[in-house]
Amino acid sequence: HKLPVIALDGPSGVGKSTTAKAVAQALGWNYLDTGAMYRATALALQRAGVGLEDREGLERALAGLRIQQRGTREFLGDEDVSEAIRSPEVTRMVTPVSADGRVREVLVDQQRAIAGSGGWVVDGRDIGTVVFPDACCKVFLTAGVEVRARRRALELEAKGASVSLAEVAADIERRDLADSTRAVAPLRKAADAVELDSGGMGLEEVVEWIVALHRRH
Ligand code: C5P
Repeated sequence: HKLPVIALDGPSGVGKSTTAKAVAQALGWNYLDTGAMYRATALALQRAGVGLEDREGLERALAGLRIQQRGTREFLGDEDVSEAIRSPEVTRMVTPVSADGRVREVLVDQQRAIAGSGGWVVDGRDIGTVVFPDACCKVFLTAGVEVRARRRALELEAKGASVSLAEVAADIERRDLADSTRAVAPLRKAADAVELDSGGMGLEEVVEWIVALHRRH
């Protein structure tokens, strides 16, 4: 029995969130951004001044963690942290935080509680491999690092940030390497996932492709 969940995994900057949101809208489903949950956790630990070496502090912080996605906004308690979790500092900190097995255990539980009843598009790194191995539909979205860096740089520019393409590419490569070589839940394509190289495709095309794949399942 397969769970009505679309698992959308892939490397950094490939456009998973934008794609997942659009697919959810096309199907009338909900959408969960698990990367935002790891980012919000990194922000909460930073604010509490808790390092990963402080295991007691970490347990306390995880027990008090109140992450919630309302629509496409991310909340920590009652505070909208959607912008704060995208800062360069949190983007650096989230790499070691998301490699921590205990952090992953807690967040994976929450992800299953939120989306486990089905009707969700879930994006991340380990959705098809670990969180929902019985998802009905698994997509591994890829694109070359140059394409991804260009897309991400345009996105940042639109928000008024000025970053060089080389900086963006370096950050993407750093995160790819860390995510795919970590011991716990490394980034990899599930055996039964379909890989889609979105390099030469526009968003609409990618969305149509995923919706068509889902209809065939
Ligand atoms: O998707 P996004 O880039 O916002 O995710 C932030 C970070 O969280 C990633 O660089 C990755 O290290 C981590 N992550 C993860 N597992 C997920 C989603 C994100 O380890 N399911």
